[in-house]
Amino acid sequence: MQMSTSYLILSVLTVFSAFNGAHASSPASLNVTFPENPPASALMNVIEDHFIGVSFELSPFDTLWGESVSRQPTAMQNYMHNLAARMSKPLRIRIGGNGMDGSTYIPTMTSVLEQAEADPYFNDIPVNFGPMFFEILNGMADKVGPMQFLIGLSMRTPDNFTNVETLASTARQLLGDRLDALLLGNEPDLYAGHGERDAYNISAYIPEIGVALESLKGIGAIAEDEKIVGGPTTCCSWTLYDVLSAGLDQYPYKFYTLQHYPKDACSGEDPDNTNITYFTTHSNIESFVGWQTDGVNKAQKQGVPVLLTEYNSVACGGSNISATFATALWSIDAGLKSASMNYSAVYLHTREFGVQYNLFDPPTPETSTEPGWRTGSPYYGALFLAESTYEGGTIIIDLNLNNSITSPTATVAAYGIYNANAERASLALINYAGVSQVFVVPSGVAEKVQIKILTAPDVYEKTNISWAGQTVSTNGDLEGDLQIIEMSCKSGCQLTLPGPSAALVAFGDGILFSGNSTIASIGSYLSNAPTSSPLPHLSLFALFFGTCAMLLF
Ligand SMILES: *[C@@H]1O[C@H](CO)[C@@H](O)[C@H](O)[C@H]1NC(C)=O
Ligand SMILES: *[C@@H]1O[C@H](CO)[C@@H](O)[C@H](O)[C@H]1NC(C)=O
Ligand SMILES: *[C@@H]1O[C@H](CO)[C@@H](O)[C@H](O)[C@H]1NC(C)=O
Ligand SMILES: *[C@@H]1O[C@H](CO)[C@@H](O)[C@H](O)[C@H]1NC(C)=O
Ligand SMILES: *[C@@H]1O[C@H](CO)[C@@H](O)[C@H](O)[C@H]1NC(C)=O
Ligand SMILES: *[C@@H]1O[C@H](CO)[C@@H](O)[C@H](O)[C@H]1NC(C)=O
Ligand SMILES: *[C@@H]1O[C@H](CO)[C@@H](O)[C@H](O)[C@H]1NC(C)=O
Ligand SMILES: *[C@@H]1O[C@H](CO)[C@@H](O)[C@H](O)[C@H]1NC(C)=O
Ligand SMILES: *[C@@H]1O[C@H](CO)[C@@H](O)[C@H](O)[C@H]1NC(C)=O
Repeated sequence: MQMSTSYLILSVLTVFSAFNGAHASSPASLNVTFPENPPASALMNVIEDHFIGVSFELSPFDTLWGESVSRQPTAMQNYMHNLAARMSKPLRIRIGGNGMDGSTYIPTMTSVLEQAEADPYFNDIPVNFGPMFFEILNGMADKVGPMQFLIGLSMRTPDNFTNVETLASTARQLLGDRLDALLLGNEPDLYAGHGERDAYNISAYIPEIGVALESLKGIGAIAEDEKIVGGPTTCCSWTLYDVLSAGLDQYPYKFYTLQHYPKDACSGEDPDNTNITYFTTHSNIESFVGWQTDGVNKAQKQGVPVLLTEYNSVACGGSNISATFATALWSIDAGLKSASMNYSAVYLHTREFGVQYNLFDPPTPETSTEPGWRTGSPYYGALFLAESTYEGGTIIIDLNLNNSITSPTATVAAYGIYNANAERASLALINYAGVSQVFVVPSGVAEKVQIKILTAPDVYEKTNISWAGQTVSTNGDLEGDLQIIEMSCKSGCQLTLPGPSAALVAFGDGILFSGNSTIASIGSYLSNAPTSSPLPHLSLFALFFGTCAMLLF
């Protein structure tokens, strides 16, 4: 479907060489041990190739996905398609959050949404929204390709559930097969703390879920025993294990959902939430991802997939580290670790204009159909994760390189990635240090490797970030020549990764994505511009060049 983009193959033949540390100040090289077969426990969690999704807060949705189907921001089309093109299964999108929990669905509304309060609390922005909301979801999927949607339903006012019922049946009607699940309640474990519900606890919550499901069945929004609802979407005060044990598992849930951030800036920036070293230390990842391991593994045994429906660096809008290259690396590390710890999918969260951890921001909230978008560093994490999985199934394990799972002095992380046949397919390597690091792959693992590198000058960088030579430009498009490095690895190979960086090292040809994922050209909506500019000569040349490059190796 897509033309192959022009790309550069940097062919480097190396002979395995045992000497290392030639330069006194460079760290000792590290031998990567990648077991031929995954351990039996890892075989329990085979993930699909749409492991990474994007989670949106409802309130800014019209500034991101547009106000009408005929004018959806070209940048957003490209941002979404870049991810969708790197997977075979539908791109996962969730719309929800605190704001959605406090929002009202109004069937007669003609705009996508409108702010419901003049001066809302910025971490909980309620809106009124109407059927056009679903039109723009469908409009984007028609442009970008297969997508599946998680839609939030509120549990804040169970005595007055009519509005939620209307929303649920409309979502089913208008989204059809694109509706992945309805997520019942957003962070109900904070309802009491936020004053939404008086003295709310798990014992009150479980029977209310039963009542909610009955009323959704009553109006025909869901069928008896149909698996289309998910939850509990807890974050903070309740454990998944306790919620399941208290009886949530009696209901036919499609997914169990959790949300998590390692730090928060709800009371402003402080030395803890601005500590970039926390995010560049792999030994912090296991406890971050594993904070609900009992519940996650209980769900796994029951065969219900667990989704991390919201994650990012610093809750309540981020801190000054949230837009840096450090969090691009961290979002990759947290994503891969989640795959190794029984999660079925993870969603990076993005919010209204100006939030520091956002994946992308329009030039202004009012001009999102224009170019001039800002790409946030976590978006590069999403691109990397989209390419880390394979059609048919993927198994990911943490290789504990240099004892990095527990050692706070390790500056690396390494994951082994197996394909659907449980064969070694690739490595994901992270070098958090400011200096280059040599990783040694022993002989007998791969005949040859093809490598893509995500890098930036240092962990503080916010814009000069490149993924295999390409940087996301102001229309959400990847610009620059794609650079795939190729090396023989027959007798082992030494991979020198710049510091800081992350690399995908694929064992063979054509495994790494090499297409052109731009679908919407710049200026589609600018005054009198044609709606598409195919540039036939350039595309044909690119295809030709791409084919030649392919034939060279
Ligand atoms: C990628 O595709 C877009 C849209 O079709 C096109 O404008 C652009 O020139 C292509 N880029 C390359 C490098 O082929
Ligand atoms: C790495 O492997 C090489 C070759 O097997 C061996 O000589 C070297 O001692 C190993 N280094 C470490 C740090 O284990
Ligand atoms: C129920 O909620 C709707 C809006 O969601 C509101 O208009 C209506 O007044 C509420 N009814 C009661 C009895 O609170
Ligand atoms: C929940 O609150 C009710 C009423 O305050 C109390 O009786 C019950 O024990 C509480 N349940 C839990 C699990 O704390
Ligand atoms: C910053 O994070 C590092 C690594 O986790 C930790 O060792 C250090 O104590 C933290 N510093 C502060 C001020 O929290
Ligand atoms: C973030 O702010 C803290 C405290 O003001 C400061 O020490 C630190 O250097 C800042 N970090 C970045 C990446 O700007
Ligand atoms: C994943 O869940 C299975 C149970 O289904 C368990 O055997 C395995 O140890 C879990 N993996 C991790 C990393 O906890
Ligand atoms: C490897 O671990 C050793 C011992 O903990 C540590 O001194 C060294 O800095 C680490 N090197 C890297 C590249 O992680
Ligand atoms: C961008 O970063 C690369 C290293 O990743 C560096 O070589 C290049 O000079 C930087 N470009 C600018 C404009 O700073």
